[in-house]
Formats: sequence, structure tokens, C-alpha cells
Amino acid sequence: MRMVDIIVKKRDGFSLTKEEINFAINGYVSGEVPDYQMSALAMAIVFKGMNNEEIVNLTSTMLHSGDIIDLSLIKGVKVDKHSTGGVGDKTSLVLGPLVASCGAKLAKMSGRGLGHTGGTLDKLESIPGFKVNLDSNQFVKQVNDIGIAIVGQTANLVPADKKMYALRDVTGTVESIPLIASSIMSKKLASGSDTILLDVKFGSGAFMKNVNDAKKLAKTMVDIGKSLNKDTRAIITDMTQPLGLAIGNALEVKEAINTLHGNGPKDFVELCLSAGSIMLQQAKICNNLDDGRKLLEEKLKNGEAFNKFVEFVKAQNGDINYILDPNKLQTAKHIIEVKSENDGYVDEINCLEIGESAMRLGAGRKTINDTIDMAAGIILNKKVGDHVKKGEILCYAHTNIDDFKDIIIDIHDSFKVLPEKVELKPIVHDYIK
Ligand code: URA
Repeated sequence: MRMVDIIVKKRDGFSLTKEEINFAINGYVSGEVPDYQMSALAMAIVFKGMNNEEIVNLTSTMLHSGDIIDLSLIKGVKVDKHSTGGVGDKTSLVLGPLVASCGAKLAKMSGRGLGHTGGTLDKLESIPGFKVNLDSNQFVKQVNDIGIAIVGQTANLVPADKKMYALRDVTGTVESIPLIASSIMSKKLASGSDTILLDVKFGSGAFMKNVNDAKKLAKTMVDIGKSLNKDTRAIITDMTQPLGLAIGNALEVKEAINTLHGNGPKDFVELCLSAGSIMLQQAKICNNLDDGRKLLEEKLKNGEAFNKFVEFVKAQNGDINYILDPNKLQTAKHIIEVKSENDGYVDEINCLEIGESAMRLGAGRKTINDTIDMAAGIILNKKVGDHVKKGEILCYAHTNIDDFKDIIIDIHDSFKVLPEKVELKPIVHDYIK
């Protein structure tokens, strides 16, 4: 078999066999296939696509390229959720303890933030002492003991994806549903849970800019999961504006704590309840979504979800004094009011732009080696649909940077204020199973 023949076959629009996909991927991981040939194949896939069978074979080959986590020592159904990434997305911080307080087991591997999107591990590390590196015995024991652990990925989880993603990033081959779906699903399937719920986002802050592409990606991933015998479902959610009100690590932890106390922003609470009720059904704790929702609401109300968060933070060495009194979390030197220059209604808050501004305030990383200022970020005072008067505050920028003038202008410009009232869209647009 020769790599060049596989590239030509895909370039000409033919389907690749399982053997050909194995040859290309395994050869790339071992170093026998060079970067230039893999990037040519990736580009051919961008243009010619892949059928379902090819996508499943690609995922399966990638999944078996490294460690597959064995969670069989954890008792009960292990549930997992994955978000395709967004701005202000602190869902795992609330959803994890919430479903764990209902009896589900969440043994989750999370990532770090890059560019305009944040990462769960960084958010958790804004709690002093919090440890994201547990060895596999500690990980399994913690989930058996308290129902939840969230850790960083092990070094050898899907090495094929690590190498391919780095290559795709610099060769213009990220935007391809077969490549995105196999990349995400290979990592989720290698993480060892019994069920997967995918939160596929659409809008200015998401990979998929429109609903139809998000649905296509979600359906492709759900089909991969089913073909590989995993209960996989997806929700399609709105990322045309930031989720909730807080963007930035310590600020999002505070918002998560408020939400666990029952005082969360409406869109964020709705997303947690919708996703949580599906996860409880997947875990066979509830027979239907309505029962799941009632149980979750009860756990928010009676304090058990918050107590589970405290237990979780304590188990991973975090200082719970910062959870019991979140005002102790780091705060920024400057808090700048960003005011509207017009009367009207907020029509749009461009997520990509505001996410990038939050990063420039110090809340995120431009490159993987940058450090984060845990206190930096943005608190929205207005969301899409809200009325705003000239001079009224749109949001507050939190930063330790002294030279923030240009960033504040950009934050202001990411709000579009129009004279007419806009129609509000639900946060959860669709459910695919
Ligand atoms: N996230 C991933 O993990 N992989 C992709 O290809 C795109 C987004």
C-alpha cells in the first residue's frame, strides 16, 4: 500500500477502505507517513468528505492509537458530556456536581482554554490548591466515593488526534465535519464512560457558525457513537452570545457557585437543566426528561448540588473557604464600566470578539504557553433582547492590565444596539438522539 495512492483516491472522490485508513493514520503516528502527505489527505477530506462508514473507521483507528481509559472499577453508569466550546461556558462546573448529587457518576477529562474560548481546567484552577492531575487509582476512587472527578487528559490519550490536530491547525484543514467529528469522538470514546452527551454550539463564538452545520456535526457524532455501541446524544445550543453573564476564570467560578445556590442566569440554568435531565435518563436514574428536571431542580433548591461541589473541590485539594465565600477569590485591580452610546435593544453580542477581548484583558491564552490572569474577564450587564439607554452600562471589564483603552473600545463594539426589539431564541435549539 502507498500513501500517495490513498491521497489520490480520496482526491478523486472515492471512499477509503478500513485498511487504507489504518495505513494512513497508523503510519502518521509512527512517523512513516510525513506531515506533507497527511496534510494532503486532510485537504482531500475537506473537499471530498467521507461517508459514515469511513468516518466510523477513522474514529476507531484514532481511538485505538493510544491509551483507552478503563473505568470498569467504578460502580454505576458513568456519564460524560462534551461541549464543542464557547464563551462563558462554565457548564461542567455546575452540571457535574448537579448530576452527581442525583447519583450519576461523572469521571471527566477536560481541557484548557485557547484563543477566545475558556477551559474547565483553568476555571477550576482559579480555586487555590485545586489539583487537576490525579493518578488513575485516585481518579477511580474519588468517583466511587463521591460520584465526580474532573481531571486533565493523560499524555497518551489519542496521540493520532494530537498530531493531526496540530497539523490541521496550520494547514487550513480544521473545518471539516468528518475530521472534527472523528477528532472529538475518538477522545470521548477513549475516555471510557458509558454514555456521552454532546453540547454542539452554533453562532459567532462556536466552530459551527450556523444551526444547520451544528446539526450535521451533531448527527455525525451521534451516529459514530451508535455505530461503536455507545449511548451518544447531542443538544444543539446557542452561542450567538456568551452563556450566562460571566466570562473569565474566577468570575465564572463565582457564577457557577451562585447557580448552585439557585441564583443562576436564566439561559445558563436552562442549559444545565436540559443537559442534566438527558444525562439522568442516560444514567437510568430517571425514566423521562420531566422527572429528571424535577429531581435536578430539587437538588439545586435543597443545597445538595452545592454540597456536592464543595465535596468535589475538597477531594481535589481545593481550598473550600473560597467556595463558601467566593468573594475571597482573586479580584482585578481595575473594574471598568463599558457604557452604551445609543438607546435601543441589544441585538447581538459578538462572541468571538468579546471572547478575544476577555483574552486580551488577561483571561485567556493566545498561545498554549501563555499564562492566565484568573481574576480577569467580563461581567455582562445586558444580554441580547435587553433594553438599554444611552450611558447605561453594557458590561464591566475586569483586568490587571493598565493599558486597557483599546480593549474597552473593542468590547463596546462587540455589542450591537438597534432601535427594534429582537426576538429571543431558546438556548437549547434541538435534541438529537
Ligand atoms: N475540537 C476538537 O477536539 N477537534 C476538532 O477537530 C475541532 C474541535
